Amino acid sequence: MESQASVPSPLSQQPWSQRFEGSLHPAIALFNASIGFDIALIEYDLTGSQAHAQMLGHTGILTASEAEAIVAGLEQIRQEYRQGQFQPGVEAEDVHFAVERRLTELIGDTGKKLHTGRSRNDQVGTDIRLYLRDQIDQIQVHLRQFQRVLVTLAEANIETLIPGYTHLQRAQPLSLAHHLLAYFEMTQRDYERLSDVRRRVNLSPLGCGALAGTTFPIDRHYSAELLGFEGVYGNSLDGVSDRDFAIEFMGAASLIMVHLSRLSEEVILWASEEFGFVTLKDTCATGSSIMPQKKNPDVPELVRGKTGRVFGHLQGLLVMMKGLPLAYNKDLQEDKEAIFDGVNTVKGCLEAMTILFEAGLEFRPVRLNAAVAEDFSNATDVADYLASKGVPFREAYNIVGQVVKTCLAQGKLLKDLTLEEWQVLHPNFEADIYGAIAPRQVVSARNSYGGTGFDQVRQALDRARSLLLSPEKS
Ligand code: ARG
Repeated sequence: MESQASVPSPLSQQPWSQRFEGSLHPAIALFNASIGFDIALIEYDLTGSQAHAQMLGHTGILTASEAEAIVAGLEQIRQEYRQGQFQPGVEAEDVHFAVERRLTELIGDTGKKLHTGRSRNDQVGTDIRLYLRDQIDQIQVHLRQFQRVLVTLAEANIETLIPGYTHLQRAQPLSLAHHLLAYFEMTQRDYERLSDVRRRVNLSPLGCGALAGTTFPIDRHYSAELLGFEGVYGNSLDGVSDRDFAIEFMGAASLIMVHLSRLSEEVILWASEEFGFVTLKDTCATGSSIMPQKKNPDVPELVRGKTGRVFGHLQGLLVMMKGLPLAYNKDLQEDKEAIFDGVNTVKGCLEAMTILFEAGLEFRPVRLNAAVAEDFSNATDVADYLASKGVPFREAYNIVGQVVKTCLAQGKLLKDLTLEEWQVLHPNFEADIYGAIAPRQVVSARNSYGGTGFDQVRQALDRARSLLLSPEKS
């Protein structure tokens, strides 16, 4: 086997060197090259090229033995790459040229036949789709793991209470499980959105050629089927220049990040001394270099911070596309770093949040239950109490507004009022008012479908569990 060092040096080796008089300026060669990042596509490139070669053999464009030699040569490159022996440099320009060149070194002139009936334009389109399809599957697995952790935590906290907020003002108390399951629902939509995007990622552009198709009697459906694509692009111009699927993916990735970032923001608040709802474990917190008392929530802060990168990639891809005339333009090379970084960021953040929620934080039930006993978040229930005793809701609402004002003036909570005081405010108040405004009852009573009532939360947990049991692909 020839070693990498024996590859003759670079710039005279460009496939188009016969057409050109001179060679690329070294700085421009660097500027032009994508090998530094598109090497991440190598396994997909090899698989895509193997399918193309098989198709060439199947259609008789190449002989069966030529096709076999190419497939075997590509497999050898895969092994070399996995063993760290294949590390093409900038002279290769991109992963596609690097592979083709190495193939020819390995199997001789037959290697030069691989590119029959295709172009790098449909080749790179194939590679990026195979990559993204694979990554979507992996992200869905990460999402499911995160959802499982949320469900486990929710199961343990059905009857743990937590203040619920609107406008970040205390509103109504909640079951902590209900709060956590809100994120289950968000991530379920994320999961389904990815399945939907995957359908449009999973189309083959292979055989679209440079832009117009090819003169060879290729069989695009054959190679598409070998690669597990669900269909083929119907228009060669569209096939080589479409990146809608990447934009859609980044949109779906951005929404995952929105959800993780909102949850992160909550954890950061909850871990503060002011809230005191969670304690961060040492596995998921850091200290300060100067303030010895600090324990910082770096994990959710980083997730919140990394969210902007993914939004940036979405914007970058949109702007990259908006002015492109048909068909392929080199601008499209810019899709890769955005896609790779978007994928890696989402995977990294999902993994970190899964660890944080599985083993990196502890809710403080005593603090949580106490918090809801010390506020006016049961005021709606006083109004509901009167309304259920025949007082029109708006009237009841106004009466309770006065009750709250009186309590605030006297430094009291609703539960501190005597029955006589209640009855001065409205004669329909009876001794059962105390039970009706106890936090546990306040939560339990919200038994409308999708509400925080404990029975509803148990049903929501059942629904969540059965979704988790469904096959990984929805
Ligand atoms: N490295 C290129 C890319 O990522 C491959 C396609 C090049 N095609 C071309 N016509 N120059 O887009």
